Amino acid sequence: MSLPPSVHRALVKIVGERGVSVERSVLRDYSHDESSFEPVMPRAVVKPDTAEQVAEVLALADRYRLPVTARGAGSSLEGNAVPSPNGIVLSLERMNRVLEVLPEDFQARVQPGVVYDELNRLLARQGLFFAPGPASGDVATIGGMVGNNSGGLNALRYGVTRDNVLRLQLALANGTLISAGTRALKSSSGYDLVRLFIGSEGTLGIATEVVVRLHGVPERRTAWANFQSPEAAASAVFEIMRTGIVPGALELLDPESVRAVNAVLGLAWPELPMLLMEFHGTPAAIREEGEEGRRVCQEAGALAFRFASDGAEREQLWAGRKAVNRAERTLHPGCTFVKSDVAVPLSHYAQAVHQAHSLAERQALKLMTYGHAGDGNLHTSTAVPSADAEALSRAEALVEGLISFALSVGGTATAEHGIGLAKKRFLQLEHGPAVEVMQALKTALDPNGILNPGKILS
Ligand code: MLT
Ligand code: ZN
Repeated sequence: MSLPPSVHRALVKIVGERGVSVERSVLRDYSHDESSFEPVMPRAVVKPDTAEQVAEVLALADRYRLPVTARGAGSSLEGNAVPSPNGIVLSLERMNRVLEVLPEDFQARVQPGVVYDELNRLLARQGLFFAPGPASGDVATIGGMVGNNSGGLNALRYGVTRDNVLRLQLALANGTLISAGTRALKSSSGYDLVRLFIGSEGTLGIATEVVVRLHGVPERRTAWANFQSPEAAASAVFEIMRTGIVPGALELLDPESVRAVNAVLGLAWPELPMLLMEFHGTPAAIREEGEEGRRVCQEAGALAFRFASDGAEREQLWAGRKAVNRAERTLHPGCTFVKSDVAVPLSHYAQAVHQAHSLAERQALKLMTYGHAGDGNLHTSTAVPSADAEALSRAEALVEGLISFALSVGGTATAEHGIGLAKKRFLQLEHGPAVEVMQALKTALDPNGILNPGKILS
């Protein structure tokens, strides 16, 4: 459905001719994210340059009851950035400037379209980094991370996006701009709107500026270990954490994940359950913690334990880990990927891994399990031929079983990928009557329901 000419003209007035696109090829590019949901063609793709333009676009959309799906890189996995029907896409890609780095405050003020890895390349010159570490950091934008409360490889030690954002400038559905949060490291002033908006998937407001919290780049020591079974590797995670060491990263890959990475990146990692870990701190601390890590893994039955011998090997290990999702896609063209992103309290992690594999066996499915083991976050993925409806429903039953298990032990249906469209059916199960509070907040902030309608809530 095309836009009414008057709305089109009004959008052009706000963002200029080059800021509004209605060409089919462009609409197609923005009609999907990385999930397997059917694409939805937006009526226009709007690319603002300033916060004021974002606010004006929202005011206009509110007046015409036009759904708005804000979008960063579109690397979300749960349908979070699939356009809402009959709506427009608001792409923040042009707002991609690092406005200010405040090294002595360990902060940076950035626009939402800044790409995670690019920000860190710039910050590295000053010995700083923005920590969460999404696996898709080569494309993921800061705005997208805020929208989905992204976590990643370093969240175990440094926290997820929510723990690393101090202040947000936000455009609200009624077209006002507000500032939430403070640059102080602690505050008990009023409700914590920063934490509320982060992870709201563009359903409450749109971040137009973000003050992120930074850390000094530590010395790092990377190691990997192999185990007989994924469950044994998962148990070693608990033993490592019990020493009191908080690794910079502590990741699990099962043999299927390793096979995919080997095949696509041309590596020769042993195709066994693997823990990949990194110790962060001073040179003395990482030497000591590394040795302790080795001792604990060996006591937990590690078949092998090795430290990366140099920076190049370290880079390759992390590139391999980050490539799991894309490796799977490369190996299975024409497939739909049914994913889960549960997190459980750490004492249940080994059980969750076991549960995932036995559910896969019961459903006769091939499964990949990997994830951020140190913080109890387990990813699973099943590649199913897109036309095979029966296999698809078995894969969904697997995810449902794993989520039920996670919730039964006090965990969550989604640790870092968000609810989007894919996990909506678990929201009530996880939160019960608290969903009514979420609905009330949504209605208060977006009474006409224009902000990414149909995501998170119905
Ligand atoms: C990862 O940890 O690799 C990302 O969250 C993406 C994924 O789960 O596939
Ligand atoms: Zn992840």
